[in-house]
Amino acid sequence: MTDTWDPQQYGKFAAERSQPFWDLVRLVEDRRLRRAVDLGCGTGELTAAAAERLAVGVMVGIDSSPAMLAAAADHASTDVRFELGDIAAWSGDGDHDLVLANASLQWVPDHVGVLTRWWAALAPGGQLAVQVPANAEHPSHRIAAEVAAEEPFRAAMGGTPPPDPVARNVLDPAQYAIVLDRLGAARQHVRLQVYGHTLASSAAVVEWVRGTSLTRFADVLPDELWEPFIDEYRRRLLATIGDAAPYFYPFKRILFAGVKPA
Ligand SMILES: C[S@@+](CC[C@H](N)C(=O)[O-])C[C@H]1O[C@@H](n2cnc3c(N)ncnc32)[C@H](O)[C@@H]1O
Repeated sequence: MTDTWDPQQYGKFAAERSQPFWDLVRLVEDRRLRRAVDLGCGTGELTAAAAERLAVGVMVGIDSSPAMLAAAADHASTDVRFELGDIAAWSGDGDHDLVLANASLQWVPDHVGVLTRWWAALAPGGQLAVQVPANAEHPSHRIAAEVAAEEPFRAAMGGTPPPDPVARNVLDPAQYAIVLDRLGAARQHVRLQVYGHTLASSAAVVEWVRGTSLTRFADVLPDELWEPFIDEYRRRLLATIGDAAPYFYPFKRILFAGVKPA
């Protein structure tokens, strides 16, 4: 599969995207963190900033995108390093004080299995902190799936466009609470939060999703159909949400954290 993550496109809404990250970091209990991992670390800027804020001894950022890791290299230091890896398969030897994953778990299926492996990587007293988007029913996501299901795009994607990972993979908040309880969390915090983003215009939503959820179509569409796909998506989206400036973009996210018994 080609690497369709583009650090520049993703970085266009860096301020809006960093809010939930720091809310997630605030869920981490204040204690010594010798070893931590940031799964799906992306461009690594937030990984390094969190390592500093939380005074992490050794922080490893893991991502499957060579383009994102190339950008992350700028944020490596003696305490922070970045590695290529698949977060769906990742686990550890029970020696991590923190497993952090911001806006990455939604890309992989079987959250119960994945979270069980991540939990196994925690040392006694270790903490898991995860944030996933939960916005699948917003027109920005729904319309992308609708356009992908129509010609000529559908046939160009072999008749089966990739499904929305958030709709397919993300669980209900209460289910994450149940998973944490079954894993034996001594304490837990789970919440659904609506982030209200005031964007310059409704067309800016296209730029937002183009850097994230639409990358799944860029992976499989022929190059010559990528911009026509975006144009049709934009036309349909603006017909639905209106051509407004500014545009208020409500974005639902689930944040959850759990502590392993000491
Ligand atoms: C929306 S970005 C979030 C990046 C970063 N955590 C942040 O908060 O800015 C999602 C990241 O997850 C990575 N990713 C998606 N699926 C992955 C997988 N199976 N294994 C490793 N990384 C993955 C992508 O390459 C991308 O960098």
